Parts: sequence; structure tokens; C-alpha cells
Amino acid sequence: MIAIGFIGAGKMASAIINGLDKDKFNIQISGRTLDTTQKTAHTLGIKAAASHTELIESSDIVVLAVKPHIIPSILAAYQINKPLVSIAAGMTLSDLEALTTSKQPLIRVMPNINATIQKSTTGITRNTNVSDSTFATVTAIFESIGSVHELAEKDFGTFTALAGSSPAYIYMFIDAMSRAGVLHGMPKDVSTKIVAETVLASAEMLLSSDLNPWTLVDNVSSPGGTTVAGVVSLEQNNFVATVIDAITATVDKNKAMSN
Ligand SMILES: NC(=O)c1ccc[n+]([C@@H]2O[C@H](COP(=O)([O-])OP(=O)(O)OC[C@H]3O[C@@H](n4cnc5c(N)ncnc54)[C@H](OP(=O)(O)O)[C@@H]3O)[C@@H](O)[C@H]2O)c1
Repeated sequence: MIAIGFIGAGKMASAIINGLDKDKFNIQISGRTLDTTQKTAHTLGIKAAASHTELIESSDIVVLAVKPHIIPSILAAYQINKPLVSIAAGMTLSDLEALTTSKQPLIRVMPNINATIQKSTTGITRNTNVSDSTFATVTAIFESIGSVHELAEKDFGTFTALAGSSPAYIYMFIDAMSRAGVLHGMPKDVSTKIVAETVLASAEMLLSSDLNPWTLVDNVSSPGGTTVAGVVSLEQNNFVATVIDAITATVDKNKAMSN
């Protein structure tokens, strides 16, 4: 059985561990304090390591699941001679390489908040020290909590906007539509549920078909009908350009924060 050790056991580590098959993976955690680590381990049904050193020695793969600013001190204090996975937002493979030896196998992973319901859309990349079998194992770990996309590292910033930040924009869209439902006389909770279900089913429809989104828009828009009136109104109010601007602002902010 593959042993996975998580250094840091907060929200994201707990979400990942909740999705992992405990019969397939031997999982342990090591947090900031032993007392809290033991409580978290008990809740998650896994083992608490007595120390980071014990965890590193007994793991095949180590996942760094602490906030990015904590990582340099951990990598300075501990020699992690195992494949190392980082889920730290904004921390590149080069940043991690600067903190480790030249032989360190490094995998950078970016899950999103939907990991909490085992539906993360996750980006993954690796340095040249990572074997194909280790990469396949780490990919399988993150497939336990959703879908995984191997990316060129240069695309991580864009991925972070499209998958990491976009849930916020999607919630804004859902809220705007349900508010419109309220304007036209429907209770907010009913309206929100209807819109959320429609967004979910529309995404499923798109993923299950070979059609591109605009063809699906055309399919719903009958000539002279109600839907095309709304489509034209969205276009007149710069819907597409507004969304693209929001993603560009997110990508630009990510770049500025990484420099
Ligand atoms: N949350 C997300 O949606 C999301 C998405 C993608 C990536 N990420 C990345 O995931 C990582 C973890 O984020 P999170 O949201 O899970 O944060 P979190 O809930 O704050 O978890 C971080 C954990 O690290 C622990 N910790 C602090 N110092 C430590 C140390 N020296 N050794 C071991 N553990 C230590 C903290 O313990 P204390 O609370 O006791 O300090 C806390 O339990 C971050 O790098 C973040 O960028 C998060």
C-alpha cells in the first residue's frame, strides 16, 4: 500500500483525505501541534505522525499542505528525500527547486475549492526528477477528489483563474439570475435553487456532447423567440467582454503576486 504523508492538515488536506480510499492508501498527517493533529486524524480516520520527521521517514510521497509562506521554513528544517507534492497557490516548481536539492522529485498540484465535495478540477505538473509511475500515483490520488488536468507550468496562472477563482464568478452569475427571479416575483431560495440546478445540468450537457457552447446557445434560441431576446441583451451589455476582462484581471493579479 502506498503511504502518503500530509504536512499540514487544514481545509484542503482534509478535503483530499476525505476523498481518498483508506484501503488503497496508508495516510498520515503532521500538523503544527501534535494535539490538534491527533484530533484531526481521529476525525478523518487516519494516523497522526508524532513529528514531521516520523511522517517523512514512513511516507512514500509527502504532500505539503501548509500555506505558501510556511513552506520555506519546512524545507529548510527537513530533508525530504521522497517525491514531494506541493498544493501551495502561486508557488512555482522553480520556487520549490530553489528550496530543495537538484535531485528532488517535485510535483505541483492546484486543486480547487470543490475538493470539499470531491469534485475538484485539479491542475498538475512535475519537474524532470519525477518518474512516470510516481506521477501516475499522484494523479490517481487527486483523481479521487475530481478531475485532473496535466498542464504546462506556464498555464498555471490561467488555470488558477479558470478553475480556482471562477467558482466565485459562477456564484455571482447564479446570484444575479436568482435576483432577477426575485424581481419578477419568485422567492429567492426557490429562484436560487432553480438557477443552480440549471447551471449544473447545462454544464453536464456541454461535457456530455461534442458541441461547442455557442452551438448549444443557438439550439436554445428559436427564431424570434424569448431566449434570443435575452442573448442579444447580454451581448449589447458586453457580457462576453466583461467576463474576459474579469479573467484577465485575475491572471494579471496572479502574475503580479508571483513576481
Ligand atoms: N483552500 C483552498 O481552496 C485551496 C485551493 C488550492 C490550493 N490551496 C493551497 O492549499 C494549502 C493549504 O491551504 P488550506 O486552505 O488548507 O489552509 P489551512 O486550512 O489554513 O491549512 C493549513 C494548515 O497548516 C497548518 N500548519 C501551519 N504551520 C505548520 C507547520 N509548520 N507544520 C505543519 N502544519 C502547519 C495549519 O495549522 P494551524 O491552523 O494550527 O496553524 C493548518 O492546519 C495552501 O498552500 C493553499 O495555497 C488551497
